[in-house]
Amino acid sequence: MTHAKIRELQRHAWQQPQAYWSQAAAAIDWITPPKEVFQPQPFGLGQWFPGASLNTCYNAVDRHVEAGRGEQVAIHTVSAMTNSASAMTYLELQQQVARFAGGLVRLGVGKGDRVVIYMPMVTETAIAMLACARIGAIHSVVFGGFAASELASRIDDATPKLVVSASCGIEPSGVVPYKPLLDEALTLCQHKVANTILLQRPQYQGELQVGRDHLWQQVMADAEPVACVQVDANDPLYILYTSGTTGKPKGVVRDNGGHAVALAWSMKAVYNIEAGDVFWAASDVGWVVGHSYIIYGPLLVGATTLLYEGKPVTPDAGIFWRIIEEYQVNAFFTAPTAIRAIKRADSEGKGLAGVDLQCLKALYLAGERCDPDTLEWAQRQLKVPVIDHWWQTETGWPICANPLGIAPIEVKPGSPGLAVPGYMVEVLDELGQPLPVDTQGAIAIKLPLPPGTLTGLWNNPERLQSGYLSHYPGYYVTGDAGYFDDDGYLYVMGRVDDVLNVAGHRLSTGRFEEVLCSHTAVAEAAVIGVDDALKGQLPLGLVVLKQGQELDLDAVKAELIASVREQIGAVAAFKLVTVVEKLPKTRSGKILRGTMRKLASGQAVALPATIDDPQALELVHQALAKMGLVTSAQPWLAQPSSVSG
Ligand code: COA
Ligand code: AMP
Repeated sequence: MTHAKIRELQRHAWQQPQAYWSQAAAAIDWITPPKEVFQPQPFGLGQWFPGASLNTCYNAVDRHVEAGRGEQVAIHTVSAMTNSASAMTYLELQQQVARFAGGLVRLGVGKGDRVVIYMPMVTETAIAMLACARIGAIHSVVFGGFAASELASRIDDATPKLVVSASCGIEPSGVVPYKPLLDEALTLCQHKVANTILLQRPQYQGELQVGRDHLWQQVMADAEPVACVQVDANDPLYILYTSGTTGKPKGVVRDNGGHAVALAWSMKAVYNIEAGDVFWAASDVGWVVGHSYIIYGPLLVGATTLLYEGKPVTPDAGIFWRIIEEYQVNAFFTAPTAIRAIKRADSEGKGLAGVDLQCLKALYLAGERCDPDTLEWAQRQLKVPVIDHWWQTETGWPICANPLGIAPIEVKPGSPGLAVPGYMVEVLDELGQPLPVDTQGAIAIKLPLPPGTLTGLWNNPERLQSGYLSHYPGYYVTGDAGYFDDDGYLYVMGRVDDVLNVAGHRLSTGRFEEVLCSHTAVAEAAVIGVDDALKGQLPLGLVVLKQGQELDLDAVKAELIASVREQIGAVAAFKLVTVVEKLPKTRSGKILRGTMRKLASGQAVALPATIDDPQALELVHQALAKMGLVTSAQPWLAQPSSVSG
C-alpha cells in the first residue's frame, strides 16, 4: 500500500484546482454548467462555481429516475424502536418529494425562504429536506434530542416561514412527544411562524392548533406535484446549527453547487460507493453526518441509503450486524462511541455469530477521536478495514481519511489518516508558523477550502471572521489540536476551545454555563468535559453558590440537572455537578477550564503563573476526589511554569 497516489492528487488539487474540481463537477447535472471554478474573495472564503446553476433535488432524485433507476430502493427506513421497516424507490421518492414540495409552495414557501425541520428518523424527514431543495427553500434541521429553548433559538436565528415536525420520536426509554416541545418553542421565540406541518405518528397524537398546524397527510392530499427550480450554485441549500464556545449556536451555511460536487466526489473517493451500492450512516439527520451521508451523498450518486431509528445496543448488541446483513450494506458509518457501547455489551462479539457480513467492505468511524482499542476491536470482530476519518459540521465532508476509493493506505490506529485531496492541512504554533512533525499545535486549513465546505455563518459574518479566519490570516482554524507524523498522518487529539464532545454530539460549555447561572442560587459556574469510557466525554458542572442562603445542596444539584435537561435536552447527558467555594481564575478573571480539565483527567498540573488564588484549584481537586473522579491521595501539582491554562 502506498500513499504516493494520494500525495500526487493532493498536489494536483492544490496547484490546479480549476482542472481538478471541474473534472469532479462533471458528475453533476447542471442547468448552467460552470464556466469558472473558483472565485477568491479578499478576507473571505470565496465562491465555488460562480455563475453556474443546478437543482440539488434533481441531482439526488429525478435524474436517477430518468436514468432508469426508478425501481431501485432509494431509502430503506428501519426502526428498531417500532420493530418496523419500509422501503421507498427512487420513483416513489420523486413522487412524494414533488408533492410535498407542492404543499410547501401552497403554504407560501418559496426560493430563499427558510424551513425548520424538527423530526425523528423517519422517511418523511428526508422527503421534507429534498422538497426544500426542490423549490430552492433553505432547510434547517434541528436535532430531535434538543429541548424547546434550543429549538426556539434556532427558529429566531433562521426566521423560517414554516416548521415541519412530527408528533414524537421514539427512544429506548419510551415515546418522546415532540409536538409539545414545538408548541413551547413557538411560544418562546420572538419570530412568528405562520404555518407548521405535522406528521402524526401512531405512538403519540399531537394536538393541532387550528389555522397554524397542518397535517402532513392533508398537505399531501391537497398539493400538486411541482418541478425542480433553478438555483445558483452559490444559493444556500441549508443552514445547520452547531455549537461554538458561546451559548449561541452558529448557523453553518452550505451552498448547492460546491456541496453537490464535493459529496458526489467523496462517495467514491472516500467511501468507495457508487450507484446501486448500499450505504448506511447510523447517525441522525439532525447532525452533519446525517445531512451529508444519510441523505445527500448516497442519493447524489444513485446509491441506496438506510435511515435508522434506534441505538447500537437495543434490543441487543447484534442489531447493527443483522441490519448490515439483511440490507446488504456495502459500507457502514458510525461513531466510535457506538462501537464502544457494542463492545461493552458484547465484548466477545457473540452478536456476530451466524451473521454473514460478506457484503460489508469497510467500517467508517467519525464524530470524535477514535481510541486505538476501539478501532482494533472492530477490526478483529468485523475483519474489514476500519477507517477513522476526521471532519466537522463546518467542512461537511472528510478533511482527513483513508480514501479507499482512490488508493487504500496503511491504517494507523489513533490517526484519521492523510489530508483528503482538496484540503491543505497544517499544524501551527501560536504565531502561525508550521510546526515540525510529532509536535502538537492548532490544526488549520490553508485557504481556499475545497467545495462543499461552509460558505458562511447565517446572519453572522463577524463570527465567521473572529471564529475561523482572523486567528491565522490565510487559514481556516478547525478548533482541533493535533500533530503530523513522518508519513503525513494526522493525529487529532481534541479541541483547543471549550467545545465538548459527548457521545459524538458537539455541545458548548458556554450554553451549559448559561443554564446553570440562571438558577437563583448560583453565583457562578464553569463546565468542563471529563473523560468517560462510553461517551468519550461527559459534562461536569462546578458551581459557586450565592452567599447567605440556607440551601439543601442535594436539592439544588437535582434542580440544576433537571434544568439542563429541560433547556438543552436529554442528549446533553448532564448528571455530574458539584459545589465549590470558588472557581480557579487568572488574575484577569479568566476561568481556568483547561487546568481543571487536566485535573479531572488525573493529570498533575503546573500552577499557572497568572493564577489568582492557588487554593481554588486545591478546592476543585478535593471536590473531584469527593465525586470519585480522581483519588485524593493522587499528587496533582506539577512543577511551576508559566502556562496559563
Ligand atoms: N430525540 C429525543 N431524545 C433523544 C434523541 C432524540 N433524537 N436522541 C437522544 N435522546 C435522548 C436519549 O433518549 C437519552 O435520554 P435519557 O437520558 O432519558 O436516557 C439522552 O438523550 C442521551 O441519549 P444518547 O446520547 O443517545 O445516549 P444513550 O445513553 O441513550 O446511548 C450511545 C449511548 C453511545 C449508545 C449513543 O449515544 C449512541 O448511539 N451514540 C452514537 C452517536 C452518534 O451517532 N453521533 C453522531 C455523530 S456521527
Ligand atoms: P461535529 O461538527 O459535531 O461533527 O464535530 C466535529 C468535531 O468532532 C471535530 O472538530 C473534532 O473535535 C471531533 N471529531 C470528529 N471526528 C473526529 C475524528 N475522527 N478524530 C478526532 N476528532 C474528531
